[in-house]
Amino acid sequence: MSAPVRIGAVAEMQAFSRRVRAAGERVGLVPTMGNLHEGHLSLLRLARARCERVVASIFVNPTQFGPDEDYAAYPRTLAADLAALAAVGCDVAFVPEARELYPRGGGGGDDVTVKLAWGQDRLCAARRPGHFDGVLTVVARLFNAVLPDAAWFGQKDAQQALMVRRMTEALRFPVEVRLGPTVREPDGLALSSRNAYLSPTERREATALSRALAAAGAALRSGERDPERLAAAGREVLAAAAGLTTEYFAVVDPETLAPPAAVGDGLLLMAGAARLGRARLIDNQVHRVAGEAVHDALLF
Ligand code: PAF
Repeated sequence: MSAPVRIGAVAEMQAFSRRVRAAGERVGLVPTMGNLHEGHLSLLRLARARCERVVASIFVNPTQFGPDEDYAAYPRTLAADLAALAAVGCDVAFVPEARELYPRGGGGGDDVTVKLAWGQDRLCAARRPGHFDGVLTVVARLFNAVLPDAAWFGQKDAQQALMVRRMTEALRFPVEVRLGPTVREPDGLALSSRNAYLSPTERREATALSRALAAAGAALRSGERDPERLAAAGREVLAAAAGLTTEYFAVVDPETLAPPAAVGDGLLLMAGAARLGRARLIDNQVHRVAGEAVHDALLF
């Protein structure tokens, strides 16, 4: 397949999307920070299946990194990313400079930040102050730059996906927010650009997060309905993993991101985050409970 057209300017990106829509076609967007892996490529294939034109944005967004986080070290692999986009049949690689998305610098003064109160004291947001303000701010700017009909996000970043959907509804962006399932290594580790930070020993320990989710899921399937006991089943696995520091392991209602009083019918989100060497790992599993039956599910 041919290489994607590379666009850096917002005005040019908007003109492309307007032309596509004028021709009666749809634009699908997969926002990324680059260092593309099979998780991103699976989202691009989902976009390809529903939209005539597919855009991948590649932008390491400074406003979503805390002062002690890995913005400078985040892997930047543009040449390999463009080759991967060509292989999945992506039409446009939108690769803006920071000043295109943040003409006023981003973050302070008279600039505009998108803040969503919902979810701020829960899960990752409680541990990464300001992170989701940065994510929502850049996603709003990407929606305005790319003018997509639909945009795909990975369920691995469950809280991000839920917050993006709420922001999109609140600001009435005419964008369909869609999810793709988490893609895993054969041993269960969820794909992530930050897995590159793991040493071989840490890489082996990193499966603790997916094993913790499996343990909590097994308890749910065997009839346990107490959210605290379900979470304890996962925490026990994490506590046994050498070198890994648990940030949280929680069993929550995806509507509130708080533990339900008791698990009833509907969706249940099990989510965890842990530090391992230089990496901060996150993972989750969503279950649909219907009486005694439990099925893997997407959040939406
Ligand atoms: O999930 C990511 O890679 C980023 O948070 C996103 C959505 C591209 C915004 O920078």
